[in-house]
Amino acid sequence: MSVSLLNGSGCLDALTAPGVAAQLDAFVTKTITPEPREGNPPVRIVETEAGMLNSIGLQGPGIDAFLTETLPRLAAQHLRVWVSVGGFSSSDYAGICERLEERDDVDVVELNLSCPNVDEAPESAAEIVAACRERTKARLYAKLSPANSDIAESARAVVAAGADGLTLVNTLRGMALDPATLKPRLARAFGGYSGPALKPVALACVLACARAVDVPIVGLGGVQSGQDALELIAAGASVVSLGTILFTDPAAPGRIRDELKCEATARGYGDPLEVRGVANG
Ligand SMILES: Cc1cc2nc3c(=O)[nH]c(=O)nc-3n(C[C@H](O)[C@H](O)[C@H](O)COP(=O)(O)O)c2cc1C
Repeated sequence: MSVSLLNGSGCLDALTAPGVAAQLDAFVTKTITPEPREGNPPVRIVETEAGMLNSIGLQGPGIDAFLTETLPRLAAQHLRVWVSVGGFSSSDYAGICERLEERDDVDVVELNLSCPNVDEAPESAAEIVAACRERTKARLYAKLSPANSDIAESARAVVAAGADGLTLVNTLRGMALDPATLKPRLARAFGGYSGPALKPVALACVLACARAVDVPIVGLGGVQSGQDALELIAAGASVVSLGTILFTDPAAPGRIRDELKCEATARGYGDPLEVRGVANG
């Protein structure tokens, strides 16, 4: 058994880039909502000095079209599929979980409890997890926000409510200004900040949660190299996801897998997973 590499939700379309998805151990869908959504108006993506801002806002086909069109096409690609689920109330989330329960081609349900580009559900993350747990036997991962003031406490609460694992982290809210006009470059002004600058934030969240709960952790945030992936594992992750890097380097999964192995070997570890928790000294 070795470290699995996944994509961050929303950072890869396996239907248009099947060759990239085939390099991964599982494919995570873009967050699915109850109804189809067009997302936010453009401009929705801008590059900044040390990362990228997006305000896509959960664009997607909705659960009906996902089940009848998208999921069968993903299954035909023989991918292990993690479905990212979102909504605006706990019943939205739980309703989608119930619909996914009919399908045996879903490996994990990842609850996106942390999208900075839409208004959040009024319930707490733990209440949403509890509502989903009642309606599904699927493995449930809770994706938490790095903006959380006490992420370890949230981790304890979602695990107590029935989460089987954690995905850490989603983007942080940010803004970029046009240097000439000093107006926001994104139409909605705010967006989710991702990329290299997120790595220290992700490392801190992974370590804090690994100390608080004993469930598998998917680490993501700013991974660009095998060294970055190894650091997330040292902090406590057992799975690593690639996000923004996939927009610029479609060969990243294979490259990072090779680099990860080399970085572990160079430190005397037979398998990168043996590094898990080393930072928790
Ligand atoms: C363009 C874009 C779209 C995203 N869409 C989603 C989404 O639908 N659901 C979700 O949970 N996270 C979404 N994310 C967040 C990523 O999955 C990931 O958590 C974040 O980008 C941090 O990883 P990175 O720094 O490696 O990109 C999106 C990120 C980007 C850049």
